[in-house]
Amino acid sequence: MATSRPSGRTFPSDFVFGSATASYQIEGAVHEGGRGPSIWDTFSHTPGKVLNDDTGDIAADHYHRVAQDVALMQELGLEAYRFSVAWPRIQPTGAGEPNAEGLAFYSDLVDRLVAAGIKPVVTLYHWDLPQALEDEGGWSNRETAYRFAEYARIVARALGDRVHTWSTLNEPWCSAFLGYASGVHAPGVTDDERALKAVHHLNLAHGLAARALRDELGQDTQISVTLNLHPLTPATQSPEDLEALRRVNTIGNEVFLQPLLEGRYPAEVFADTAHVTDWSFVQEGDLDLIQVPIDLLGLNYYDDSVVRHGTPPVGDGTPGPDGHKSSERIPWVGADEVEWVQRPGPRTAMGWGIHPEGLTRMLLEIAQRYPGQPLAVTENGAAFYDEVTDGRVHDQDRVDYLHDHIDAVGAALAAGADVRGYYVWSLMDNFEWAYGYDRRFGVVHVDYPTGTRTVKDSARWYADVIRTRTVVPPTVA
Ligand code: FCB
Repeated sequence: MATSRPSGRTFPSDFVFGSATASYQIEGAVHEGGRGPSIWDTFSHTPGKVLNDDTGDIAADHYHRVAQDVALMQELGLEAYRFSVAWPRIQPTGAGEPNAEGLAFYSDLVDRLVAAGIKPVVTLYHWDLPQALEDEGGWSNRETAYRFAEYARIVARALGDRVHTWSTLNEPWCSAFLGYASGVHAPGVTDDERALKAVHHLNLAHGLAARALRDELGQDTQISVTLNLHPLTPATQSPEDLEALRRVNTIGNEVFLQPLLEGRYPAEVFADTAHVTDWSFVQEGDLDLIQVPIDLLGLNYYDDSVVRHGTPPVGDGTPGPDGHKSSERIPWVGADEVEWVQRPGPRTAMGWGIHPEGLTRMLLEIAQRYPGQPLAVTENGAAFYDEVTDGRVHDQDRVDYLHDHIDAVGAALAAGADVRGYYVWSLMDNFEWAYGYDRRFGVVHVDYPTGTRTVKDSARWYADVIRTRTVVPPTVA
């Protein structure tokens, strides 16, 4: 793949370049430090749910290699590290007294980051719900939102003096719809009504946790949330295609954007999903609780989509046309007559297309829609089938991908979007959910049998970008 964009764009000195990971994807040590089981332990240990029946039991062994991993980040010159706290390490059953050993693990990580001059950016929920809470209904149970706020308070007390930015949730769309509608993610439920309840309770959890954080740590606490918006283009301007787009946009984007940032649900969603629920689980006052001013809106971007009216194919577990693992059931509740148009061009190992211009467009649209709202790209990256050769990993495809996407962020900045940072997904190869270890997203290679880390060419290239604050040409000596 050759890059199509010019090099040389520069970034302001206060723009933050970082990397991102998530607890279940890298830590391993699932039975250590008093950690309780999460829905991902249960799901990955259920045969047939994850490719090759991989589990996060050992993962990248980060739990035992924190010192080495932080040293690596420092070597690369990373300015911020976005990681997640595993709720079941802090509260093994999702409620009650905190587990001191769990808090100590993250406190040590934060200390090391601060000592290395790296800003700690903490995500409170990146999908590893304590299994005990799922047994009570998980995110379809309203109570989980209140449990989450308590957990947020505990973590705030322990780490609040050193954390730079807090993020409540990572990609609630995935938690709700991949977890409870298509069931390709934990907890593997296929129940559209539970998925819609999960949407609301995740939104509520965000609002309650954000308030708990500010209550504990003060009103100037930096709060964010990360969404995976689905940037959409209609295949044609026909009324059918526009209606298809409207439906996906409503259930994929608006059910999060509007409550979180505007304090309301889009009226269309009630009609689109009337066959599933009457939404009576939304209680009076909830929307006031959900809408909290946020200091940063995190957006994850991998690819954009072209959609049209049609019949979605029933999946066989390979990446579906919408980029998610396909299954018997589609995650798009209330938008079932929608087809994803396959475009020609290169693809990543996930089967996802490569369209950096979609990132510029998304940032500009959100910037225009929410003036004054600072944004960050909290995940962007690509999986390729990397190999270690001559002690190095020549992942030119990933270098090209990152080059074009970082340039696309620069283009949005230049056009006036208030983008404050960029976090490459991911610091290191890790457990890629339903695809296990087969898909590698790291800029650092992990040899799973030994845990050995090898800096890929993409990490070397990214380090140059950070050092020079310039999108340097996509070549690595
Ligand atoms: C996002 C997830 C992240 C990672 C990337 C590839 O949806 O937030 O954990 O799996 O996709």
